[in-house]
Amino acid sequence: MAASLKSKLPRVGTTIFTRMSALAQAHDALNLSQGFPDFAPPARLAEALGEHALRGHNQYAPMAGLPRLREAIAQQLLLHRNVLVDPETEVTVVPGATESIFCAITALVGAGDEVIVLDPVYDSYEPAIELAGGRAVHVPLLAGSFAINWERVEAAISPRTRLFMLNSPHNPCGSIVSRADLDRLAVLAREHNFYVCSDEVYEHLVYDGREHCSVLAHPELRSRSFAHFSFGKTLSVTGWKTGYCVAPPALTAELRKIHQYVAFVAVTPVQHALTDFLEEQPQYPASLAADYQRRRDLFLSTLAGSRFSWTPAQGSYFQLLDYSQISDEKDTVLSEHWTRELGVASIAVSVFYESPPKQTVLRFCFAKSDDVLIEAGRRLCAI
Ligand SMILES: Cc1ncc(COP(=O)(O)O)c(C=O)c1O
Repeated sequence: MAASLKSKLPRVGTTIFTRMSALAQAHDALNLSQGFPDFAPPARLAEALGEHALRGHNQYAPMAGLPRLREAIAQQLLLHRNVLVDPETEVTVVPGATESIFCAITALVGAGDEVIVLDPVYDSYEPAIELAGGRAVHVPLLAGSFAINWERVEAAISPRTRLFMLNSPHNPCGSIVSRADLDRLAVLAREHNFYVCSDEVYEHLVYDGREHCSVLAHPELRSRSFAHFSFGKTLSVTGWKTGYCVAPPALTAELRKIHQYVAFVAVTPVQHALTDFLEEQPQYPASLAADYQRRRDLFLSTLAGSRFSWTPAQGSYFQLLDYSQISDEKDTVLSEHWTRELGVASIAVSVFYESPPKQTVLRFCFAKSDDVLIEAGRRLCAI
């Protein structure tokens, strides 16, 4: 008789992104649900990938990443964040931020440990925490502003708190943390001796003159943090699944022990292409904010005559729209209904909560070409 199968993740099904993208495809809807650009990455980057594959860069890279790419990453951090890191001992190239987040959680969390997550929470964190034997302690962001509710965070801390999951710019809310938030977190982390896992994959997408506050630029937090980044987001190549993790040497050593048995390496010709591109166009990431802010503003301008309300996203490529003037239907029902009937796919924000509050917001990805954003806005105005 076959052994009975006991799921380690009994509550996990197919992700909302996969489901909504499939629904969008089935109904030929404009897909503003899943977070990926519908436009081409920089041409030079794609060319470089082809060149390196043809030149024979097709076997395993070093486990921690190509030394030249790690050096280019260190240069990027110096140029854009004024942060000095040692590429040898502090930078690890990984097959996507999802993998390094998984490895960081696995490295730090053990049976019975608690991890503070802020709801709405990016969906990959909690399964990783559970697989490590830990428990996610959910603290909701403040309604409306989606800022961190530090009183609730303090109340959620216990002697078992091992790790704090930070995500800025935030998916799905588009909010960002301030320097004061980081100071507050640093005090709590010191007092209660926990680590920080900082998901900064949208670091370059911050708008209206605001600045991204990285844990790497905060000396106290840096000493107890893993920071995760994604070339998929920065260079419009989400399908290349390549990112990097920066952490102090002792944390990096633990991350690598796990990374070497989860994935071992990131894809070699991709690493070469990224290196060439970053060496040739180091300023490119600084151009992203203006481009995405223009897309955000274009999308919002098309909604001027609609009954939606919103606060413009501070960062990321997600815009929340409140539909309380239009319907009191549940967001999960409405997002599916509008995908089918209106041909515009979005993501219901309630799915990212442990206990969804009474709110009526949907998430729309504006990493899309102008004609798609204009047509989506036209359809949403017709409601
Ligand atoms: C907040 C957040 N973290 C991590 C990731 C995953 O990044 P990667 O594709 O590099 O694994 C995403 C992708 O959508 C994301 O939105």
